[in-house]
Amino acid sequence: MKRILIVGAGGQIGSELTTYLRKTYGGANVVATDMRECPALGEDGPFEILNACDAEAVASAVSRHKIDAIFNLVALLSAVGEQNPQKAWAINMGALNNALEVARQYNCALFTPSSIGAFGPTSPKDKTPQDTIMQPTTIYGVCKVTGELLSNYYYTRFGVDTRSVRFPGLISNVTLPGGGTTDYAVEIYYEAIKSGKFTCPIPENVYMDMMYMPDALRACVELMEADPSKLVHRNSFNVTAMSFTPETIYAEIKKRMPDFTMDYNVDPVKKAISESWPNSIDDTCAREEWGWKPEWDLSSMTDDMLEHIRRKFASENK
Ligand code: SER
Repeated sequence: MKRILIVGAGGQIGSELTTYLRKTYGGANVVATDMRECPALGEDGPFEILNACDAEAVASAVSRHKIDAIFNLVALLSAVGEQNPQKAWAINMGALNNALEVARQYNCALFTPSSIGAFGPTSPKDKTPQDTIMQPTTIYGVCKVTGELLSNYYYTRFGVDTRSVRFPGLISNVTLPGGGTTDYAVEIYYEAIKSGKFTCPIPENVYMDMMYMPDALRACVELMEADPSKLVHRNSFNVTAMSFTPETIYAEIKKRMPDFTMDYNVDPVKKAISESWPNSIDDTCAREEWGWKPEWDLSSMTDDMLEHIRRKFASENK
């Protein structure tokens, strides 16, 4: 990767991946794009407004900037997707379809995240294998499975260097996620600092896989830089760092903030989605094929999240 285009750079992953990639590949070599103005993304490199569903605009950006690798991060997440499935399909598949076609025409590598949401209630629940039944019950998951198949098709049919990971819930302290089922595991930290109490929308005993953003950023780059001859799989690798329930993360925060309290107001849509996803996924293939290994666990992540969010609120309230 020498000249990189990030599509959907203003979201939860993109806002941090842009900075991360610019540190490694040079600010001028990482072009961040989004539907909306994102002033922070223009500070240390090029930023452009780009509608990922406009095929000509995507092709123009790739051609003008002589791009050789695309990160397509555009997606409506699982819970918000259920409010308007047609829109979710149009955006999630429209952006991917354009990215694949442009990657084919301009000979670019392409990274698109998949998700634990690609699994469904008929997948094995525990240690969900890399290759298994995938019958998701959300439009988000349907898009992810379709995207995985389509990306593999572009690789075998046209030789496009497509690669992907199935991310678990991503926890970060820079940009909030929006409309996802795993968002609670980010919101809980903000509420702990802001108000000392949190109302959880996910049932207390539901396990979901999670990962701290620094591990996720490293996963993107390590997979894209991996020796292609070692990759048996491409779209998409199971990766995980931890698996916990609302009760586990609550207890972890409470250890550090004894006055913190949590109650429940379970959201029926998020309940159904969270219960349809794996308790934990098996990432052996990623470990074997490109050396994936997480560095953060629940305890170290909790220390880091609380410290960063505390600092953020302190500087905002100055
Ligand atoms: N974090 C996503 C969601 O909850 C899953 O990939 O929708």
